[in-house]
Amino acid sequence: MTVEGIDGAGKTTLARALHAELVARGLPVELLREPGGVATSERIRELVKDPGLVVGGRAEALLFAAARAQLVEERLRPVLDAGGWILLDRFVDSSLAYQGAARGLGVEAVAAVNAFATGGLVPDRTLLLRVDAATGRARQDGRGSGADRLEQAGDAFQAAVAGAYDELAAAEPARFRVLDAAQPPEAVLAAALGALADLLPV
Ligand code: TYD
Repeated sequence: MTVEGIDGAGKTTLARALHAELVARGLPVELLREPGGVATSERIRELVKDPGLVVGGRAEALLFAAARAQLVEERLRPVLDAGGWILLDRFVDSSLAYQGAARGLGVEAVAAVNAFATGGLVPDRTLLLRVDAATGRARQDGRGSGADRLEQAGDAFQAAVAGAYDELAAAEPARFRVLDAAQPPEAVLAAALGALADLLPV
């Protein structure tokens, strides 16, 4: 299961609340984030977010894919193969929306790189948190931490990301559920649980 959305959509807040709820229900579920989750990938995360570095679009796409490949091999595959569940704060769809669409590298090209990186691993369900770019930015400003290299890209970039997510969701309605993330956190959590109901044990 993955959670996706533009910066400031509330993915991390939802992922934490959802994880707590699923654990309380006795599900063996591990919460991880991208880019990161394992040591090598966290190192790549620092690199790719550093505002002091020049990182071109292709290098950026490959760095995200490299971080993802390591996460899949070191953590996701072993947990899934042992019958565990994974809840991921961002996955391949982030690269398709940010690098493929918003950075203009092409969704198909980035999808091909990511199929190689992940060995074709696809989430059973993807929750897309939808907010407009202005709400996302207001939430981020409220966090107080300085914008990282990717967050500095601006509202037009975030709007392009949001449009790309909508297209991905429309193309794969069985996997995606779109949630209104402008609601209060408890309402988003309730909607998320509803959107996973068919996957959860009764
Ligand atoms: P995120 O962890 O959501 O940032 P934060 O912890 O600050 O909320 O993601 C970091 C940034 O990386 C975010 O701007 C989205 C971007 N990103 C991509 O562009 N492509 C990707 O494949 C991933 C995973 C993230």
